[in-house]
Amino acid sequence: MFHIILNVLICLPIICGADYTNRINPHKNWGEWEGWGTSLAWWANVLGDRDDVADLMFTTKLIQYNNQSVPGLGLNIIRYNVGGCSANSIGADHMIASPKIPKFKQIEGFWLNWDSDDPQSKSWDWSVDKKQRLMVQKAQDRGVDQIELFSNSPMWWMLYDHNPSGAPNGGENLQTWNYQKFAVYLATVAKYAVDHWNVTFRSVEAFNEASSMSWTSEGNQEGCHIGSEAQQKVIMYLRDELNKRGLNETLVSASDEVTVDSAIKMWESFPQSVRATVGRVNVHGYGYFYGKRDKLYDLVRKDNKPIWTSEYGEGDGTGLPMAQNLNLDLFWMHTTAWVYWQTFDSSQGWGMIHADLEKGSTGVVAAKYYVMAQYSRHIRKGMLIVESDRSDSVAAYDQSNRRLVIVTLNIGDDSQNITYDLSQFGRITDGSVSRWTTTPDDKQHYVFDNKLNVKAKTLNAVLNKKSIHTIVIENVFIQ
Ligand SMILES: *[C@@H]1O[C@H](CO)[C@@H](O)[C@H](O)[C@H]1NC(C)=O
Ligand SMILES: *[C@@H]1O[C@H](CO)[C@@H](O)[C@H](O)[C@H]1NC(C)=O
Ligand SMILES: *[C@@H]1O[C@H](CO)[C@@H](O)[C@H](O)[C@H]1NC(C)=O
Ligand SMILES: *[C@@H]1O[C@H](CO)[C@@H](O)[C@H](O)[C@H]1NC(C)=O
Repeated sequence: MFHIILNVLICLPIICGADYTNRINPHKNWGEWEGWGTSLAWWANVLGDRDDVADLMFTTKLIQYNNQSVPGLGLNIIRYNVGGCSANSIGADHMIASPKIPKFKQIEGFWLNWDSDDPQSKSWDWSVDKKQRLMVQKAQDRGVDQIELFSNSPMWWMLYDHNPSGAPNGGENLQTWNYQKFAVYLATVAKYAVDHWNVTFRSVEAFNEASSMSWTSEGNQEGCHIGSEAQQKVIMYLRDELNKRGLNETLVSASDEVTVDSAIKMWESFPQSVRATVGRVNVHGYGYFYGKRDKLYDLVRKDNKPIWTSEYGEGDGTGLPMAQNLNLDLFWMHTTAWVYWQTFDSSQGWGMIHADLEKGSTGVVAAKYYVMAQYSRHIRKGMLIVESDRSDSVAAYDQSNRRLVIVTLNIGDDSQNITYDLSQFGRITDGSVSRWTTTPDDKQHYVFDNKLNVKAKTLNAVLNKKSIHTIVIENVFIQ
């Protein structure tokens, strides 16, 4: 996570303003949707023992929360953050903590010293990081089926300055002689999780925005600069260490760069052997409206890899810029999953549900939460993302239930009368359809109506200014 406060809605002419027709074409699709998610890390380190929190995130039930009935988001992806911190000394060496890092962002790591690689030895402490691990279990019990292991920093003792927030100047901090040890650490945790936690990680990501120079010893979170050369070596070691432990099916994902453009740069720097070893490209959305999403897609498609938006966040609690960027990710980059950073967060507007992570309390459900629900409750894993003419709509088709879902954002200051052209579909029964709407300014949150009608493969819908709606049409045939 990289703090940029975003409080302007950018209104691109193509998606603001006038009424328009959008054609949805099921004969062109971008593959199966893998799902929606959140990283655990800080919030789960604090709230990991709460069942209501897990219900809100990982079920689609109506949850009683703060005397309100709140629809669960039904996320099916989590990212478990393996820590780099530990309190023990190794001889005269010990961890150096940045003066600015709060306790709840210090994630406890399992490997205490370099004496032994054997996970059963005293060099490892498997009792730490209880709360985050508890939330992994709660998530899996509720149906989460894709879990990624990710690291913000290697263990402190693998670092030149022993500080898991970064090097003094933001430069390389992973000791060259520990590239392989770092891979051993990640692979050992992945293997231990299979054997002892009943958790099989789908993928392992060793880096977090690692080409950025902003991870310094004065930072307020875990972070580590790892440049391209070092990344390449760690990727090859990691593949090898996973295979050695029989985890051949676990993908190595890379590189969780901070923006699309830095992901392009990193990918272009990798030789073919490294690209072939990476199983999936993860990228963060902190470039917001900027960045060559289509270029990253073209590059990565050549190597036949999927792309995930593996992190996104900003401080606008309406959720509308989030929806706008999410739509751009799907339209231009064809990401197959979309993962928010911290769904519970103390920073203003960042959390979908406000939380004071210092105190351990949770608060108000932001409009952003309901904007997420507009997508995550209806576009489900396994559905096909089908072609929409315009980036203000995401359309998904459920082949087994013959259901079409369209999520449309109106970011503008006027209402829009939108015509959906469904002529490319086979048969669609005329009649009323379901719709949910969120209008943050009016405090209308995920409100249901069935007033819209489809007729002769056409649907008209008026969308309030600054709002998002989800239309669900049943009995839709492609042929
Ligand atoms: C929920 O309602 C009860 C009873 O009306 C009240 O005492 C309590 O303060 C409310 N809690 C919140 C978080 O609003
Ligand atoms: C392990 O996890 C799987 C999948 O989440 C679940 O179906 C199974 O019941 C779990 N097994 C145990 C022993 O908890
Ligand atoms: C997994 O990788 C190891 C090491 O490369 C190899 O020996 C083994 O045959 C692989 N197993 C499977 C099932 O592919
Ligand atoms: C929306 O546009 C359609 C098609 O042009 C039209 O039939 C309908 O009356 C319009 N609805 C409103 C509320 O303006």
